[in-house]
Amino acid sequence: MKLDHFLTVDGLSRDQITTLLDTAVEMEAVGQREVKKIPALRGVTIVNAFFEDSTRTKMSFDLAAKRLSADTMAFSGKGSSTSKGESLRDTVLTIAAMGVDGFVIRHKGSGAPQRAMDWTGLPVVNAGDGMHGHPTQALLDAYSMRKALGDLEGRHVAIVGDLFHSRVVRSNLTCLRTLGAKMTLVAPPTLLPQGIRDWPNVDEGVEITTHLDDVVPTVDSLMMLRVQRERMSGGFFPSENEYTEGWGLTRERLKRLPEHAVICHPGPMNRGLEIAPEAADHARSLILDQVNAGVSTRMAVLFHLFSGGSDETRAPAAPAATTAPTTTSEREETK
Ligand code: CP
Repeated sequence: MKLDHFLTVDGLSRDQITTLLDTAVEMEAVGQREVKKIPALRGVTIVNAFFEDSTRTKMSFDLAAKRLSADTMAFSGKGSSTSKGESLRDTVLTIAAMGVDGFVIRHKGSGAPQRAMDWTGLPVVNAGDGMHGHPTQALLDAYSMRKALGDLEGRHVAIVGDLFHSRVVRSNLTCLRTLGAKMTLVAPPTLLPQGIRDWPNVDEGVEITTHLDDVVPTVDSLMMLRVQRERMSGGFFPSENEYTEGWGLTRERLKRLPEHAVICHPGPMNRGLEIAPEAADHARSLILDQVNAGVSTRMAVLFHLFSGGSDETRAPAAPAATTAPTTTSEREETK
């Protein structure tokens, strides 16, 4: 399967997502070898351009590229010529002129990775753009849940918290619905995006509520979202205590989770606000598994983007599902 870009999960078929997840299984095995490296992307130069802060996405993309033997260049908005007023367009064109093969881009502006691809003509992976999307986060979340729960068809996944500012919920909704999960979105009324019921990925398999206590005993997976205080200009809730009381995964709610249910959080966490430390560190918490899955799923994305999955460069065993459409040009671009 050859990807042209990874700007969004919108338009990916169930077979395509499954192929990526199956490739990630092979990539995880690479990380368990004595020599954690394969030559798949030898000679490929990937720029990790992070115009916005990141720990896990930035570091896991770097490790993923290195495990595939790609050369990597790191660009951070801080300390770059953007502080002298250089535009995004000039920045990516400048870096592209050095002869690189593609970009991984995080930016606070929704649509910035798409623009960078349009300007440079190079493949781009969206590592999180504004409130729009975080497609590799959705992939690693699906990977972690599938590993813990098996096939996600018919599983009930609830995503709870600051839906308004969350790019994670937007990508997860599409990815998990495509994989057949039932979804419930839970938020305080002030953090429910206006018009959410009209989102194209909100269909009959998606419930929306403000009542977390009704949902907790019914889930297979409970994903708590970070309260994005840095994106809040006004008061979205009266106090942190009231937020936790209404929409936090507290010790009391933890006791009412089904025994098999797993706990997810994309990180970074506000411990004690949206998630109690007892829940974050619980045996059924997948939070560090999600971080671990970030490396193998991002290896899978880079592999299908830059090697095209050709036999010549494929070093791990062939991914299990290879019957998917062979090009993402079939995607319906939403932007
Ligand atoms: N989940 C996530 O995107 O984390 P970082 O901001 O640390 O990359």
